[in-house]
Amino acid sequence: MLYRPQMAIVSPCTRFGGVVHPPGDKSISHRVGILGSISSGITTVRNFLHSGDCVNLLRSMEALGARTHYSRDGILHIHGTGGRVMEPVGQLDLGNSGTALRLMSGFLSGYEGTFELTGDESLRSRPMTRIQEPLTRMGARIELLGSDGCAPVRVTGGRLKGIHYELPVASAQVKSCIMLAALHAEGTVTVVEPMPTRDHTEKVFRELEIPVRENGTTIEVDGFGPAGPALASRDWIIPGDISSAAFPIVGAAGQRRSSLTVKGVGLNPRRTALLDVLKRMGARIRISTRSGKDQGEAHGDIKVSGARLKGTEIGGDEIPALIDELPILAVAAAVAEGETVISDASELRVKETDRISAMVANLQAVGIDVEERDDGMIIQGGLPSGDKPVRVRSYGDHRIAMSMAIMALYTSFPLHVYDISCVETSYPSFWEDIRKLGADVD
Ligand code: S3P
Repeated sequence: MLYRPQMAIVSPCTRFGGVVHPPGDKSISHRVGILGSISSGITTVRNFLHSGDCVNLLRSMEALGARTHYSRDGILHIHGTGGRVMEPVGQLDLGNSGTALRLMSGFLSGYEGTFELTGDESLRSRPMTRIQEPLTRMGARIELLGSDGCAPVRVTGGRLKGIHYELPVASAQVKSCIMLAALHAEGTVTVVEPMPTRDHTEKVFRELEIPVRENGTTIEVDGFGPAGPALASRDWIIPGDISSAAFPIVGAAGQRRSSLTVKGVGLNPRRTALLDVLKRMGARIRISTRSGKDQGEAHGDIKVSGARLKGTEIGGDEIPALIDELPILAVAAAVAEGETVISDASELRVKETDRISAMVANLQAVGIDVEERDDGMIIQGGLPSGDKPVRVRSYGDHRIAMSMAIMALYTSFPLHVYDISCVETSYPSFWEDIRKLGADVD
């Protein structure tokens, strides 16, 4: 096995920038990976995210009967099953991907058979009752084999019926789980969200000519019954992931001498609240949307010129549109002048790790004044001086590891970031990219 260092030493860097092409969007890659696998014929995907989470998803789709390979030019080819699904041998292991496990549970609920889905220790500690309840109401049998309502999840699929379901939490994963189950339902499935969440499933459905009706926060899908939909294969281009781009963006946003261009990034309005918040904090950001949407998704370039940032308030409806960016926004707040209050973000406690306590502990280790709240944190911006290295940990969470690496660009001392292999789950070229942008990483 190839040895990979488990710790990175990242040193301060006052001029960070250049051009970066973020890797493919993780959320869109998951949806296209699942639906491409049951289309008929060959689906091709350019810029599919080749990372731990998506590789685990593809492996599971193969265990269910699809075939996948990459051509020399890096394009993913998925040979779809034409709507069928084989009962796999053993469990489907989705690794660290909550998106894959939740979406696949919904998707498989409409198929005759029994399927067991599991993941790594982090994934086996995340709540699954949120998918059990609606899928059970639709008629699937969902057993949670872990402790306290956690994975492994055993799905016994079968005949599903339409339901009207009000989501108790704003979660695109749960919404999408129900929408995927809806494909095999008899009748209409209606999902009502408490707040708008990312709408990639709606957009991918539309591209595949699966009718979806959206009215504010209400989404309706008419089921195709037990046979499911007949999907034709097609060619996809996945835009860059704004959640990955967020790390270099914050790396440049708070340093006066920095300047960064992010190329080919997804600009879906339900994903770009990070940019609104940074602008509010005084960041100089220019967005150029490319004409035309690729496959229903807005995309374009972002230019960031470094500036002095100031504190802000982040909460309410904004949260679902920047949920994955909160750890790196906490870093932006730490290097800003004044106070930042993050509230209404208790969902952070059930991500790959408890991201509130992980970021509070790490920022405190760096010397930042942070107060932990049940649903967020209060950060007093301002960096301590000193030159002694400080150790921080990822808690096995990719976004915590990358946030702390970016934090190190702003400090006056090196940061030793421990347990960094998790970065592979969403942004395998992260270290290479930040090095190219001027970071000193050992
Ligand atoms: C995702 C939705 C979000 C997000 C996750 C990806 C998706 O989770 O945090 O990284 O692809 O639907 P929730 O919808 O559960 O908040």
